[in-house]
Amino acid sequence: MAKEASKSIVRQVWTRLHPYRKHLLTSLGLLVLAVPLTNFHPMVWGIVADALLDGSLTGSSLVFWLSMMFVTYVVGVGANAMHTFLLEKTGQAFVRDVRVDLFDKFEVQSMAYHHDTHSGELVTRIVSDVDAMEQSVLQGLTGLIGEAVTFIVVAGMVLWISPLVGTVSILPLAISFVFIRIYNLRVKAIYAGVRKRLGHIGSFVQDRLAGVQVTQAYGREHDENEVFAAKAEGFYKASVQASRLRQTYFPVVSMFGFINNLIMLGVGAWLIMNESPSFTMGGLLAYRGFWWRLQSPIRTIAQTSDILQRAHASATRVFELLNAPVVIEDADHARPLPTPTRGSVTLNDLSFHYLADKPVLTDVSFEVEPGEFVAIAGSSGSGKTTVLNLIPRYYEATSGGVLVDNIDVRALQLHSLRQAIALVGQESYLFDGTIRDNLLYAKPTATAVELDMAATEASALEFIRHLPKGYDTQVGQNGVKLSGGQRQRLSLTRAFLAKPILLLLDEPTASVEPESESLIRESILVRTRAGEGTTILVTHRIHLLRQAPRILFFDGGRLVADGSHEALVSSSDAYKDAYRQWEKEEQPD
Ligand SMILES: Nc1ncnc2c1ncn2[C@@H]1O[C@H](COP(=O)(O)OP(=O)(O)OP(=O)(O)O)[C@@H](O)[C@H]1O
Ligand SMILES: [Mg+2]
Repeated sequence: MAKEASKSIVRQVWTRLHPYRKHLLTSLGLLVLAVPLTNFHPMVWGIVADALLDGSLTGSSLVFWLSMMFVTYVVGVGANAMHTFLLEKTGQAFVRDVRVDLFDKFEVQSMAYHHDTHSGELVTRIVSDVDAMEQSVLQGLTGLIGEAVTFIVVAGMVLWISPLVGTVSILPLAISFVFIRIYNLRVKAIYAGVRKRLGHIGSFVQDRLAGVQVTQAYGREHDENEVFAAKAEGFYKASVQASRLRQTYFPVVSMFGFINNLIMLGVGAWLIMNESPSFTMGGLLAYRGFWWRLQSPIRTIAQTSDILQRAHASATRVFELLNAPVVIEDADHARPLPTPTRGSVTLNDLSFHYLADKPVLTDVSFEVEPGEFVAIAGSSGSGKTTVLNLIPRYYEATSGGVLVDNIDVRALQLHSLRQAIALVGQESYLFDGTIRDNLLYAKPTATAVELDMAATEASALEFIRHLPKGYDTQVGQNGVKLSGGQRQRLSLTRAFLAKPILLLLDEPTASVEPESESLIRESILVRTRAGEGTTILVTHRIHLLRQAPRILFFDGGRLVADGSHEALVSSSDAYKDAYRQWEKEEQPD
């Protein structure tokens, strides 16, 4: 099973490298050229030494061999530089592609996915794990292929000089490979743990930074430091464990590499002492130069395979996200919303739960006509926000369905459905940037007049004008530099600017003062009268409820009453009680 998974990771990496195969092949060709050229010099030493010993060396032949040595080396180094450049370029392209694809994937994942996955974890993966994969592609490819080719070429030269000495000196290197293999098997789980802990550190930091004010308010800085120190300690221990394993195995690998040095000198000298015709002093001298080039690939292969193990742990995490299915996406024959869109919303016997066995909505049915203005009310946790989220299909109904313009939302193209809708959530997000950037997010082509109009409708124009930089004021991450009421009115402006057929508002006036609330209420009524679209408004503000032509009252995930405020007060005791409660909250006397 694990083997299958790792195979498929190699295959997936390979598939992603496919567009760059020309670069890779050229790079490989350059490498195959560079290796013999840069490793030619010990051969010259051997040839010159032998010619010296048998007295055949002349001045001109010496100059010839020195020139050969120089030219081969220079060309080899040049080819090697080009080879490395092409590989690094490919590696970086690979990383860029993976990052972009990952981000794309995060952006289309369902809300359920994002609620279940910590954003700090996603950040760690897109930044740090992709980075670790880059090492595998760069160092893995340059290191492994390069050194493997070096090894083969040098082994070839060593065997060519003397098959006997060559064979016996290469043997211990084979044993090194066995140790590298055992090491890889043992270190795999450790590296998976290291990456997992890094992900936990990322999500913890992200979460605690978002809530740093709460930490300070309750004086819990010291406790948080301790929790974090324990997490950092876990990462430290796992990393040290990996380091210990490395420093146990790598010296053994080096030692076997060094033994071939002994064998070369020993067997070579013994053959020369016994005046064997198959081995010369020049051969011995050349071996002196080649020994290191045999030993170093082994060390590099050991190190590279270590990097590959680390990268494998990261790649597993990256591909896990890349391959995660997108739960909510266009069906095969999804179609766009017909234009002009009328803006009716129907819930048909809809039931929904976030967690199995915990029903949140049960058998909810209602129909909102095109252009209607409907309020949704109910106690906290009764499922109002959930109803709104089901309309743009942020979640999928468990049974029954949602229809927009009498078409099941599952049969519609998501893009077209969501384009017709503006949802202002209880806590709508503002991006780090200016007020203008945030508003234009809904409609990048909006004119200054349109901006002012939308801001007026949301009762936001006055405060924006009073800011020293007006629309160019920086709002900070999630609008932290604004007040709660200002943030809420900006979210509302953004929605008004989009001029949606379906406007879904979740307690849009919860943090604004009564004057703003009545301005916003007026804007909704104007929009309704002008026939600009349907509005569904979740609220328990009494003035909004009294003005709404129709109220859907929810209790415990069921729709229990449907009608105007007056009708509900006389027909539903549950509504009457709830309303009295809300009235008391707003007007305590
Ligand atoms: N992502 C989620 N995962 C699991 N349960 C959830 C999730 N979101 C909401 N719930 C649960 O679903 C129920 C309905 O939540 P919902 O947010 O729709 O209530 P609400 O009527 O909007 O309440 P409020 O007036 O407080 O905003 C609650 O019991 C809540 O705990
Ligand atoms: Mg809610």
